[in-house]
Amino acid sequence: MGKCAACGEWNTLQEEVMLREKASPAVSKAHAQLYQPAQPQVLSEIETGHTRRLETPDEEFNRVLGGGIVPGSMILIGGQPGIGKSTLLLQLSMQLNNRVLYVSGEESEEQIKMRAERLDGNQDKCYILTETNVERILNFASELRPDCIIIDSIQTISSAELDAVAGSISQIRESAALIQRFAKTSHIPVFIIGHITKDGNIAGPKILEHIVDAVLQFEGDRHYSYRILRTIKNRFGSTDEMGIYEMRAGGLREVSNPSELLLSQKDEDLSGSAVAATMEGMRPMLIECQALVSKAVYGNPQRTATGFELRRLSMLLAVLEKRCGLPFGMNDAFLNLAGGIRVDDPGIDLAIAAALISSLDNTPIPGDTCFVGEIGLSGEIRSVSRIEQRIQEAGRLGFKHVFLSKYNTKGLGGKDYPIVLHPIGKLDELISGLFR
Ligand code: TYD
Ligand code: MG
Repeated sequence: MGKCAACGEWNTLQEEVMLREKASPAVSKAHAQLYQPAQPQVLSEIETGHTRRLETPDEEFNRVLGGGIVPGSMILIGGQPGIGKSTLLLQLSMQLNNRVLYVSGEESEEQIKMRAERLDGNQDKCYILTETNVERILNFASELRPDCIIIDSIQTISSAELDAVAGSISQIRESAALIQRFAKTSHIPVFIIGHITKDGNIAGPKILEHIVDAVLQFEGDRHYSYRILRTIKNRFGSTDEMGIYEMRAGGLREVSNPSELLLSQKDEDLSGSAVAATMEGMRPMLIECQALVSKAVYGNPQRTATGFELRRLSMLLAVLEKRCGLPFGMNDAFLNLAGGIRVDDPGIDLAIAAALISSLDNTPIPGDTCFVGEIGLSGEIRSVSRIEQRIQEAGRLGFKHVFLSKYNTKGLGGKDYPIVLHPIGKLDELISGLFR
């Protein structure tokens, strides 16, 4: 065919041979071993002895995985280049008090050794293999019988059974399927690193994400040192969890108390800054929102947001303009969340609105005040989940006042908090309560 039936372009089709006629005997042996037929088993007779999780010394990592590594599971870790995927997993291999096979198709032994020297950990139980052929990797693995296997990156691995180049869809699919068979039959957990495309998806077929048991995303702003490990899919735990790390000269360090780092230390109250009591996963976290509102020089006012969805910022500005009569249409608005953290929690809306109004008015918000609440299109303040945890965290960090939705206070019923609650129903009440 000269013309592609899907996109209509000419001469764009490429041949990809799915299976080579005759593979070498060694390769076929590896295949035959892995593709042994299974027998049907009665559910009640299946033993679960193998499912004891392997706990790592890294608490953040355990939490993200839902309490440790499940034997025989296959976990995909995705992330931008240079974000620290290799560092995270090499560090983990050296921290684990178990034998780990670290396979790299990207770096040489010396390069890995140099990296390992920067990280502290036990180098005696970590085996390094620089190899890209999946059959050979699995042969080594079945001889070595490690407790955990790490494959740095699935895009560099290929099977000798296929003619296609490494990183092509058929190679990724075939290699991943072989590795998965191996993990399931040997009960050895396997981590695979996956590259990410420009638009943030894991490069390669979507099927890769279906094959694996868990998909983790390692993300962060390269200009900041914070890194977040998020769960996108997890067959053995919740997807609400996340782990926070800080990238240092000596590798990644767990951040067990994020709020204290994300609140900037400042002596005086400045306008345009408000603190939100948000949740990241199951953890309450206080985070500073900074806004700058200034007169638009050109006809089109500019809107920029870092760490927050731009469309949601536009929505909030429109609500403030329409419901409170504030002239945001004539002003540029810039928004920044401290620490390079991205927040999806809608409970951050109220703090963002407060920061915007504060900057527009040039009136500082008292440093002992924080905010939590979602803003609806008619300017109403909606309730958010886990309000008690948020209030407790704010109180623990020394905040004295919290503005929240009046619909949220119902469940709180008469308990004593070390913090004054200011329940509000509409945005107007925020302005009258705070700025007048
Ligand atoms: P790397 O793990 O190579 O990223 P990926 O595998 O996701 O592409 O991370 C490399 C970055 O991490 C690099 O920019 C330097 C930084 N880094 C540190 O800051 N401290 C360290 O101890 C190490 C090993 C790396
Ligand atoms: Mg890498």
